[in-house]
Amino acid sequence: MKKILDLIAAKMRPAFAACGYEETYAKVTLSNRPDLCEYQCNGAMAAAKVYKKKPIDIANDVVEKLAGDPMFSEMTAVMPGFINIKLDSGYLADYMNGMRTSDKLGLEEVEQPVTIIVDYGGANVAKPLHVGHLRPAIIGEAIKRMGKFLGYHVIGDVHLGDWGLQMGQIIEELRDRQPELVYFDESYTGEYPAKPPFTIGELEEIYPAGSAKSKTDEVFKKRAQEATLKLQNGYAPYRAIWNHIMKVSVADLRKNYDSLNVYFDLWKGESDAQPYIPGLIEDLEKRGLAYESQGALVVDIAEETDSKELPPCIIRKSDGAALYATSDLGTIIEREKEYQPSKYIYITDKRQELHFIQVFRVAKKAGYVKPETEMLHLMFGTMNGKDGKPFKTRDGGVMRLENMVADIDEAVFERIMENRSISEEEARETAKIVGLAALKYGDLSNQVSKDYVFDMERFISFEGNTGPYILYTIVRIKSILSRFKEQEGRDVSAASILPAINDGEKALMLELTKYNEVLETSFAETAPHKICQYIYDLSNAFNRFYHDNKIIAEEDKARQDSWILLITLTKDVLCTCIDLLGIEAPERM
Ligand code: ARG
Repeated sequence: MKKILDLIAAKMRPAFAACGYEETYAKVTLSNRPDLCEYQCNGAMAAAKVYKKKPIDIANDVVEKLAGDPMFSEMTAVMPGFINIKLDSGYLADYMNGMRTSDKLGLEEVEQPVTIIVDYGGANVAKPLHVGHLRPAIIGEAIKRMGKFLGYHVIGDVHLGDWGLQMGQIIEELRDRQPELVYFDESYTGEYPAKPPFTIGELEEIYPAGSAKSKTDEVFKKRAQEATLKLQNGYAPYRAIWNHIMKVSVADLRKNYDSLNVYFDLWKGESDAQPYIPGLIEDLEKRGLAYESQGALVVDIAEETDSKELPPCIIRKSDGAALYATSDLGTIIEREKEYQPSKYIYITDKRQELHFIQVFRVAKKAGYVKPETEMLHLMFGTMNGKDGKPFKTRDGGVMRLENMVADIDEAVFERIMENRSISEEEARETAKIVGLAALKYGDLSNQVSKDYVFDMERFISFEGNTGPYILYTIVRIKSILSRFKEQEGRDVSAASILPAINDGEKALMLELTKYNEVLETSFAETAPHKICQYIYDLSNAFNRFYHDNKIIAEEDKARQDSWILLITLTKDVLCTCIDLLGIEAPERM
């Protein structure tokens, strides 16, 4: 379905033209004075300067042209030249019926379903997920879902950190613990055992131990670096250990992401970029884009318009090692070969800003991506504790993601048990769903780029702009619908939504019309918080409507059916939106 603002503008444009004014002045927006009108057009003010007329005269001309149009219940010109607009209730009811009977609730899908890569998650293999991984996972998942729903061909890639120094640290720590392993036998050439030499539990001990040793023990550090280089150069026994690490760790990462309802289309990583790196370096050198500087190989990326000086991008260190940027460039070459995306969206924290400026500029300069390919680095702010510093555990350590989720589930469980009489078992299950929603909504309702405070009490509150409030509204609608079914038992599918008979009802309908627009804008601006704001407004509009209208007690059956359909549509819009945010609703709470 067309967006309501576009539909109104489509009426205004010919009216402006018929009065002899440019159509471009016929822009319509939501009213910023909802007490006076629903929509407004301020075009007469801008047109006045060009046509040397009083704005109010222009506004009057246009309003006169549209007099009696059935789409509007009111269209008035007011000083100094605003056009105030109200939609006709019958028109609005038709729009509601259109939404409820359309695919995807009348969403206007994109005309060109171009390919978009969303690079998010970014977990590092063999290291546990900590709270720092929460934001990229849930923001990325929302962006991916939004894009897919709008009809784009979106590919979400976790882009694992699976090729770094942690691998050498694990290999050497493993050697210290189990020197008898076949992988450490220099003369060994046979088949590798299929069974990994460690469980995930053991791996979670081995990595921190190796990493700690690297910090205090110079000899061990050297060994770890050498092992990493040997692995990277393809030494088969280490490659076998690496395969085991990958298998064990990725299975665990999958489980963790699953429990967050975060699902990737691709489980690729830095290691997949490695085959492209020698060719990449050769190409940059041959074309004179890369040059030696203090032993390293670099590419200049500075541009005249830069407001501060940007250092060149290092492609290869003086010791011959490739870097993070090299691997991201290799990944771009692979993605271009396999998917030809029109757009890339990378989601990481702000501290990687320079890295992505460098990578994007080298990719464009070398022509690895087309000039028109959009490269977006969506940077997120830090999740802070109440002290304003990055969130930590009570003893100051880095919090594991699982523990944080467990804490919030527990807090929600207690809240549910306080005032509900559902069984403890059901409360546990419900708390898991509501807890995750509280956490995700608490994050997504903030502008991505802003830092925010992790405030458990506020996140789990059933009131205000919170996840639990939205879920509570959905559950409330579900319960009205099942009460209606029990009491009336009527099938309403052949009925229709009737024109609103009171302000609260019309306000709810007007809120519902914004759905199409909101989904489009939120994705275009990579701003999931706009969906949060929308469903908060919609929930408020529903709760006001429900307060004013006694649906279950209504005696006029046609009116009752209409309301049942209206609240069903409200529930469907809310459920669609939370699903896009990666949030689920329980049956009861
Ligand atoms: N693994 C990286 C980190 O922990 C994030 C990866 C982001 N994606 C990328 N293509 N560089 O910082």
